[in-house]
Amino acid sequence: MGGRPYIRGGMSTSPNPEIYAPGLEGVIAAETRLSDVDGARGQLIIAGHDVEDLAGRASFEDVALALWRAAELAGAPADAAALSAALGEARVAAAARLSRVGDALDAADGMDALRAAVAHVPVTGELVADAIAATGAMAVYAAAWARRHDGLEPVAPDPGLPHAADYLRMVIGDVPSPARVRALDAYLVTVIDHGMNASTFAGRVVASTGSDLVSSVVAAIGALKGPLHGGAPGPVLDMLDAIGSPAGAEAWLRAELAAGRRIMGMGHRVYRVRDPRAAVLERAIGELERDLGAATGRLALARAVERAATALLAAKRPDRPLAANVEFYTAVILEAVGLPRELFTPTFAVSRVAGWAGHVVEQRRTGRLIRPASRYVGPRPPA
Ligand code: COA
Repeated sequence: MGGRPYIRGGMSTSPNPEIYAPGLEGVIAAETRLSDVDGARGQLIIAGHDVEDLAGRASFEDVALALWRAAELAGAPADAAALSAALGEARVAAAARLSRVGDALDAADGMDALRAAVAHVPVTGELVADAIAATGAMAVYAAAWARRHDGLEPVAPDPGLPHAADYLRMVIGDVPSPARVRALDAYLVTVIDHGMNASTFAGRVVASTGSDLVSSVVAAIGALKGPLHGGAPGPVLDMLDAIGSPAGAEAWLRAELAAGRRIMGMGHRVYRVRDPRAAVLERAIGELERDLGAATGRLALARAVERAATALLAAKRPDRPLAANVEFYTAVILEAVGLPRELFTPTFAVSRVAGWAGHVVEQRRTGRLIRPASRYVGPRPPA
């Protein structure tokens, strides 16, 4: 059957059809009120809002709360200020456990560190408490790992700061400029949820067994680590470094394609047009450069590379639209914000944990175990 989906038995005629889809493409495994990805139109709706209207206008707390309300999380904080205060307390609690998390933060890879460290978050069994604890812990442990990686002491959280500002402060060790915090908030809001992506599905599978929210989040971290899911923004920066200037883009990209390599940050499984999150992040980078009063040249370079890559890929694959995806401008915005490239994927988790938590709440309410089937292709005992 190769890798292609097939249906045996017929969806409408058989009470128990067999559907084989190894990537589960087109299989609807859940109903969600959290987000909708329209790959043909290039639209992302998060808790009823177009992502373009959220980024740059709403904070991480605003959108996390909107998602948790959409999921009907019982006991969710009354407003974004209350959530901000609760996340501040959760960061302090996570920092108090840093000595017990211990060796987890010595991992060479930030996602390995997060997977082991977040596993230490105590489970209360109350979804709202566990959602807040996991979200607070993700930021503390990502920042502490980055500090340890650089041979520095962790920075204690400031519970009075908004989540994005305190995360950045715990990484760089200094109070960040409002412009950088705004840009980071725009990024966190943009990637907070994205339909039934692989890490969200992993988290929902665990939740469907009746297991706890922290276990779902740990499973989701493992899925996000994979290079086919959350791992591309670092290589995009490597590409921009290698290209160096807009004038060099076309020749470099041609050589790359001629060698049979893929262009990082281009193409997407669902989007057949430009990923709307690329546009949102591109706008936020422009605003950051304007606020800082200085263009780094990175945005201009990234735009030139995107233009050249889009044209070359269209000529090479006229049948398969290949446009910029979220990772393309993630690299540029997180670099401009002041985060090291090894922290790009952990920063994705700092945001996406809020989406995962919302999905756990929805999944738990269904009470339905996710349990697909497999087709046995091994030997059978003789008849
Ligand atoms: N550069 C060059 N060619 C690309 C490409 C890219 N970035 N993305 C896809 N293609 C080509 C593939 O080589 C394939 O060609 P083939 O049929 O001759 O083998 C064709 O387009 C279809 O690709 P496919 O692998 O079926 O797409 P997919 O939906 O499985 O993959 C991605 C989606 C994101 C994995 C893929 O586009 C990719 O590898 N992009 C680069 C990595 C990246 O940016 N990842 C972050 C994703 S958010």
